[in-house]
Amino acid sequence: MSRKAEFLKIWTERVRRDHADDLLEWLERETDFFEAPASTRHHGAHPGGLMEHSLNVYHRLRAIVCVETYGTITSDLLAEDVEETVAILGLLHDVCKVGVYHKTDLFKAIAEGDLAAVAPYEFRDPLPLGHGEKSLYLIQRRMDLEPEEAMAIRWHMGAYDNAVKGDGRALSAAMEATPWVWRLHQADMCAAWVDEREAAEE
Ligand SMILES: [Fe+2]
Ligand SMILES: [Fe+2]
Repeated sequence: MSRKAEFLKIWTERVRRDHADDLLEWLERETDFFEAPASTRHHGAHPGGLMEHSLNVYHRLRAIVCVETYGTITSDLLAEDVEETVAILGLLHDVCKVGVYHKTDLFKAIAEGDLAAVAPYEFRDPLPLGHGEKSLYLIQRRMDLEPEEAMAIRWHMGAYDNAVKGDGRALSAAMEATPWVWRLHQADMCAAWVDEREAAEE
């Protein structure tokens, strides 16, 4: 099964929320979500890297919730609303990355000299709202999120979020308000630093 097919299967089976189909249509027709890389030069800096990362986070998050619920990882279904939240958070937390990675102009890089230092992609964001904030905005414009989902997506970078340097109280308050903030941050870290590291070393 292709990664896009896996995404579509999870989305259509697990997400029953009003306007979920509008959101999917927007992703397919108006964004590069299914082909985009996940970074300029690090994890997932290749076509489809964002889809690969989003699925890795989905599986990690589901495993975290399964262990909390059943004490083990299982394919048994979780409660319907929990499965829906896991799918929305895992698959869409990095939707802020649509339309921001542009292939580096290699001719220009050669002309400028240092080709070894050139990243495969350049980052240009037409909507610089901040990372978690932008994902939240792009989703919420099309489909309602529950408050705990909004907090988890906003703060999924955890203490790596630049806003925490100014004032970490909102992050701590969000962590206190719902375990989904930590669960999603943990799943994101596992995907980036374990799953995608192993994939890069294969
Ligand atoms: Fe992210
Ligand atoms: Fe992520």
